[in-house]
Amino acid sequence: MEDWHVVTHGRSDTVVRRSPDGRCYAKSATSEPAKEELVAERDRLIWLCEAGLETAVVAEWYDGGDTWTMVTTTVPGIPASEVPPYATARATSSIAMYLTDLHDLDVDECPFDRRLEVTLPAAAEHVAAGLVDETDFDLSRLGRTAPELLEELHDGALRASLEEDIDLVVCHGDYCLPNVIVDPETYDVTGVVDVGRLGVADCHADLALMTRSMAARHLNPQYGLECAQRLLATYPVEADPWRLDYYRLLDEFF
Ligand SMILES: Nc1ncnc2c1ncn2[C@@H]1O[C@H](COP(=O)(O)OP(=O)(O)OP(=O)(O)O)[C@@H](O)[C@H]1O
Ligand SMILES: [Mg+2]
Repeated sequence: MEDWHVVTHGRSDTVVRRSPDGRCYAKSATSEPAKEELVAERDRLIWLCEAGLETAVVAEWYDGGDTWTMVTTTVPGIPASEVPPYATARATSSIAMYLTDLHDLDVDECPFDRRLEVTLPAAAEHVAAGLVDETDFDLSRLGRTAPELLEELHDGALRASLEEDIDLVVCHGDYCLPNVIVDPETYDVTGVVDVGRLGVADCHADLALMTRSMAARHLNPQYGLECAQRLLATYPVEADPWRLDYYRLLDEFF
C-alpha cells in the first residue's frame, strides 16, 4: 500500500488512502478506539448497501496486528464540498433527496442505535477520556472547555429526549458536504462515505450537520445560508431551530 496516495490523517489514528488507479479507498486504524470505529463503519456500510442506498462497497477487510484496514470501492464523482458555485443549488436538491431516501428507511430494520440514550453517555465518556478536541469547536463555542459544554448538553437532554421520539429516522450521523459524493456533471448524489456513526436518531442530527456545513463560509463559501435554508425548506418535516442547535452541540463531542 506504499504507492497509495494519503488523502487524510483523521483524528483517532486513522489514515485514508486512495489506490493509484483511483478505484479504491483504504481506511486504516491503529489505536483501539480507531479500530472500534472502523468495525462500526464496516458494519454500517454493509447494512446501508443491503438497504439499497448508494454508498461505498466494502471490498476487503484486514484485521489482526497493529493496523486494521478496510478497503472500499470508490464512489464515483467529487465530494459535494468541491461543487462549483453555479451548481450548488442543483447539488443541494440532490443532497436533500438522498437525505429523504435515507430517512425513509424503516427504523425497525436498522440495528444501529444513535439515540440520545446512547450518544449522551458516549459524549461523557469522550470527555472523561480526553478525546474531545477543544480546538475544533464551532466558532461560537471556541474558547470554552469540553466539561462546560457537557454541562450545557445535559441541561438540554430532557427536552431533546422527549422530542426525539417523534422524529426518529435512520441518520447518516456525519452528513456534511465532504462525506457526500456527487456526479460532476449532473450533481446527483452518487453515494455517501464516512458512515461510522449511522444509526437511528432524531432527523435533526443530520439536518444540523449538513446545514452547518453549507453555512460554513470559511469551508464551503459557494453554498452559504441560502443553500442551508433551501435544504430545510425541501425537507418534509419542519425543522426545529432549538434541536438544530442541540445536535450541533452534541457533535462537538465526536
Ligand atoms: N469509497 C470512497 N469513495 C469516494 N471517496 C471516498 C471514499 N472513501 C473516502 N473518500 C474520500 O476521502 C475523504 C475522507 O474519507 P472519510 O471521510 O471516510 O475519512 P475520515 O478519516 O473520517 O475523514 P474526516 O475526519 O475528514 O471526515 C472523504 O471525504 C471522501 O472525499
Ligand atoms: Mg469524512
